[in-house]
Amino acid sequence: MKIITILGSPRKKGNTAKVLSMFEDIVVKNHEVERINITEYTVGGCLGCLKCKEKKGEPGCVQEDDALTLFEKMIRSDAIVYASPLYCWSFTSQIKPLIDRHFCLVSGDGTHSLVGGKPAALLVTCAGPVEGNCDAIQGIFAGFCDYLQLMAKGNYILPFCTTPEAIGDKGAELAGNLAGAITG
Ligand SMILES: Cc1cc2nc3c(=O)[nH]c(=O)nc-3n(C[C@H](O)[C@H](O)[C@H](O)COP(=O)(O)O)c2cc1C
Repeated sequence: MKIITILGSPRKKGNTAKVLSMFEDIVVKNHEVERINITEYTVGGCLGCLKCKEKKGEPGCVQEDDALTLFEKMIRSDAIVYASPLYCWSFTSQIKPLIDRHFCLVSGDGTHSLVGGKPAALLVTCAGPVEGNCDAIQGIFAGFCDYLQLMAKGNYILPFCTTPEAIGDKGAELAGNLAGAITG
């Protein structure tokens, strides 16, 4: 299985990267893994032109930036992990343009998704608790999985994060659970 992981944090050595690496270290033993550090790519905001809806079988976005490369990677993958720190109860502004641009992966009347049927999971780290703090990000993830016809394999959230060095057994356990869900 080929697994794409998308790191939405601006910190490549931060909390989210640490837990994502724990996950990658587990699955790479039996699967191919490719990490996308979103900050290494240029992805502009969706223009809302709807030109993409006129094309079936390809993303069809008019913007010639790195989003198309990333979509090709996603289309060729067997599973996708979205990893983001919680920023103001939501995804970071670094990954949000890519999420908006997912709009072009569904064509026509919304029945045809270029990534339909792929397992997908959400990994989040945050400073606060899960309850009353992570509702929005989980709702957004559920919404785009539904829209893209991705097979949602769960939300893996590590609350009360301080530093990457302080991430211990709870991070390892979360990474293990995520690995089981995405490859199982
Ligand atoms: C701009 C900003 C907004 C944040 N918003 C929240 C928040 O709404 N809730 C929360 O629990 N933590 C919040 N945090 C804390 C981060 O989610 C937390 O430190 C996370 O583990 C950072 O991950 P990283 O090291 O991968 O960037 C915020 C941090 C920043 C910098």
